[in-house]
Amino acid sequence: MNQAGQNYLTQFKEAINELTRFTMVYKFAMDELNTKINILKEEFQYVHDYNPIEHCNSRLKSPESILQKVIRKNIDFSLPSIKENIKDIAGIRISCSFINDIYRISEMIEKQKDVEVVERKDYIKNPKPNGYQSLHLILKIPVFMSDREEDVYVELQIRTIAMDFWASLEHKIFYKYNKEIPERLTKDLKEAALSAAELDRKMESIHREVNHLKKVNEDSDLGDLLSLDIPKNMMQSILKDLSGSIKLP
Ligand code: GTP
Ligand code: MG
Repeated sequence: MNQAGQNYLTQFKEAINELTRFTMVYKFAMDELNTKINILKEEFQYVHDYNPIEHCNSRLKSPESILQKVIRKNIDFSLPSIKENIKDIAGIRISCSFINDIYRISEMIEKQKDVEVVERKDYIKNPKPNGYQSLHLILKIPVFMSDREEDVYVELQIRTIAMDFWASLEHKIFYKYNKEIPERLTKDLKEAALSAAELDRKMESIHREVNHLKKVNEDSDLGDLLSLDIPKNMMQSILKDLSGSIKLP
């Protein structure tokens, strides 16, 4: 390799090293958000006896794909410009059980006081023309380090498992397919997305009905208990022993 080639290679390696160091803070922001999500998951399970999160994945963009995006979007190659223009260096994707859960989770995260929502794209209410659905949030989170505090962007995508199923396969099928997709396939793909959305609606409706039945059952269990004809003061003392301070109606 000639001298110019060597210089180019050295500069390229330095740029990659610098980018690696730069992305460290994004890993911390991602860790913070993951902790927030895990807290919600555990607490929700405990309080509501229900876990709305099926799974959660996170990824950090590699220096190489940051460079690719800089070139693709024609962004100025400086760290402050990358920081302001590429807001998905840190990415977290949550797959929920039901559509309703997506908005519950996003609300719980959005209202935390150290989280700022800088962008919100609701591709569930307004799906993309190909049928893609998800709720996308760009969040700004403060990261505290030894000598400074830095605000860091994290992209959060929240979707149902049916939306995730469609998006993963669509990505697999069309990734790196740069030509225009034939119209028949575009139509089929959109139909598949509509079927996934229909499945989501159906499962949500079954879930709602079962919840209703569960509540009716619980109420009648309580009715059975109250009709046992146990004197009120005895019942009160049993419940007091059981849980300390339950008051009978
Ligand atoms: P990027 O420059 O790629 O980040 O897109 P954008 O700035 O227009 O943001 P948008 O919120 O539309 O999409 C961001 C991310 O959502 C992508 O990187 C994908 O992970 C996902 N996404 C968006 N559209 C599609 C789609 O049609 N199919 C799939 N499989 N994923 C999508
Ligand atoms: Mg992206």
